[in-house]
Amino acid sequence: MLKDDVLKLISREKSYISGETISRKLGVSRAAVNTAVKTLREEGYGIDSSTKKGYLLISSPDILSKGSVSVYLPDNRSGDLLVFDSVDSTNNVLKDLASKGAVSGTVVIADQQTGGKGRRGRSFASPSGAGIYLSYLFKPDSGFDKISDLTGWTAVAVSDAITSAYGLDSQIKWVNDLLMNRKKICGILTEVTVEGESGFIDTCVIGIGVNVNEDNFPPEISEIATSISMENGGKKFVRAELAAEIIRSMDKLAANWPEDPYYIERYRELNITTGSKITAFPQMTENGQGRTGKAIAINDDFSLKVEFDDGSTENLRSGEVSVRGLYT
Ligand code: BTN
Repeated sequence: MLKDDVLKLISREKSYISGETISRKLGVSRAAVNTAVKTLREEGYGIDSSTKKGYLLISSPDILSKGSVSVYLPDNRSGDLLVFDSVDSTNNVLKDLASKGAVSGTVVIADQQTGGKGRRGRSFASPSGAGIYLSYLFKPDSGFDKISDLTGWTAVAVSDAITSAYGLDSQIKWVNDLLMNRKKICGILTEVTVEGESGFIDTCVIGIGVNVNEDNFPPEISEIATSISMENGGKKFVRAELAAEIIRSMDKLAANWPEDPYYIERYRELNITTGSKITAFPQMTENGQGRTGKAIAINDDFSLKVEFDDGSTENLRSGEVSVRGLYT
């Protein structure tokens, strides 16, 4: 869309850019540029204009659109970017696109999800105007045994993106929840299709949900969930900036996959699970409770080494743990 290209040009310019330059660069009329600027202003962009100097971007609203996210992305990135106001689940939309041949690197973002999905059949609260709901298509050409590496790598990629976009630290609870001040700010749901014959991963839809500007959460999750804003004195953040950093970080992950020691090293630095008493799910004891023990180490394949209270030691490759003293 023309307005997205106009936004890209004026937001990358530190000073005024003339209407003539914009129309020449985009190969459109001055009138078309004026109309695009008018639309952007209606969307909430603060754009100063001066007859002599042209246009200057003064402020950006916190909206998620293809234009607002693309501003922060390299022009030549491969993989389509689709941004919706509302969908049931970005993972569902992307799975559908994948089945129709979408390429690795395709991204779906929504401002709101009406049926946001969490792990183990839970829902993921996805209100409009607050969070980032993003799904990234990755075709890794790896066996299914690599899936725990991929979820670990993704946690590192998203944590790094938060640091790049906002200069903030986050921590990882095994396997890939991101925390701030020991409460959850991000959940990741990876849905995989495997080729029957080879056992190789066909497509991976990596769904990332980040709580960015929420002020509160429904009572049933308010003890465990928080937002980046709530952990930073109520400051509001531009979501498009983080959405773009997540895409950049995932592109880097895809380019480095599957050999890069950085990811396991960084994971171990960010992890807050080892050394703690944990309860593992869905590993059940006979009375239907999760099994309790102590998390000892993160193995090289991102599995969690646990010493259970019955004295046995296991490497957990899937499932979830709750960490004592963190939240249940
Ligand atoms: C969890 O913490 O249980 C995982 C939550 C994953 C939420 C994201 S939001 C984008 C993508 N679409 C979904 O329906 N779920 C994932």
